[in-house]
Amino acid sequence: MIDIEDRLTLDEQSAVDFILTLRKRWADTVYPTMVEEYQAGGAPEESVEAAAERLRDLELYPWYSHMERVQQKMLWKTAADAVISRRESLLAQYEEGGNAAGTLTLDASLELPTWYTDYDIHVQPGSFFSDDLSAYVYEFGARIVMLRDNDGYKFHRLFTETALPETAAATRVVDLGCGFGKSTRPLALRYPGAEVIGIDLAAPGLRLAHAEAEAEGVKIDYRQADARATGLEEASCDVVTGTMTLHEMPSEAVKETIAEAARVLKPGGTMAFLEFQPTGDPFRDATIFEHAERNNEPFFHDLFGTDLLAACREAGLVEPSWTPFDERANGMSPQGWGERREWHFPWAVLSAKKPEA
Ligand SMILES: C[S@@+](CC[C@H](N)C(=O)[O-])C[C@H]1O[C@@H](n2cnc3c(N)ncnc32)[C@H](O)[C@@H]1O
Repeated sequence: MIDIEDRLTLDEQSAVDFILTLRKRWADTVYPTMVEEYQAGGAPEESVEAAAERLRDLELYPWYSHMERVQQKMLWKTAADAVISRRESLLAQYEEGGNAAGTLTLDASLELPTWYTDYDIHVQPGSFFSDDLSAYVYEFGARIVMLRDNDGYKFHRLFTETALPETAAATRVVDLGCGFGKSTRPLALRYPGAEVIGIDLAAPGLRLAHAEAEAEGVKIDYRQADARATGLEEASCDVVTGTMTLHEMPSEAVKETIAEAARVLKPGGTMAFLEFQPTGDPFRDATIFEHAERNNEPFFHDLFGTDLLAACREAGLVEPSWTPFDERANGMSPQGWGERREWHFPWAVLSAKKPEA
């Protein structure tokens, strides 16, 4: 498969380098300097709302917020220009096939929910579902969003290795909201011999996921479906997982997705979703809500405001828990995220089990 980054012109490469550096300095210099300004201004606020109000009065805030939004727009413009100018060769890859014998099942009649189609999520123009090339744009952009720390899917592999059970006998594992397959391929490594299924609403992502899996010789079945109604048989999966999927849905849809996970799990099976949780530091949490707003992620408040442990219990799952996840350390990190100066996502894993029969 073509890696667009191997083919960038010098101008394109400098644009990518500029945006990546801008993003890094925003995270490791502008944000901590703004935290210092906040701390110098008096005792910390006790609520997220009060911290958000004081945040907006800081001298550095207009720079901080402007850079956050603008760098994201620059990112998509640069990624889209690079992808669109290579349109023919990239689209041709969808037709190439491979020898892994995985499948791609698209459902043209699937109705996409309006809460999904109404927003350009992550500020990506046209979002992730509207054009055959949007998955390539998203794949390219995601490398920069993750500050190049997830090249080779390091982060997703760490999730798979530390948050999911070692179940040699697993016969079926499923990835809900699999995107272009970044979270699905590590499952095939973790569960060799198991049927690995990736489910997503977006056909472009599934096309790219399928093409890449085939090219790499990894057998995966990709299906276009809603995570809330997968069409999978009841009690047929050993592991149901998803990364960065739940926070993109409204509260009710998240609960329905958990109920669907509970339905398709075998007794004794495990559900695990990599998401985010509030840190308990009102200032930091205020910046996370603001990030979500500036990044067009309208349901972040729902994720933080919904009791998903209760939702797991209501769905009949047991031992529900949230565990901090530190991708720069050892993944699952029950002791917390640790002190960190730079702006950083508070990753956390929601896990639960289906009771043994
Ligand atoms: C931020 S992306 C994450 C993709 C992938 N898991 C990863 O880690 O790279 C979220 C994905 O969830 C998908 N999604 C959102 N709601 C969904 C739903 N109800 N059913 C299936 N997929 C959904 C989106 O289309 C998108 O591909």
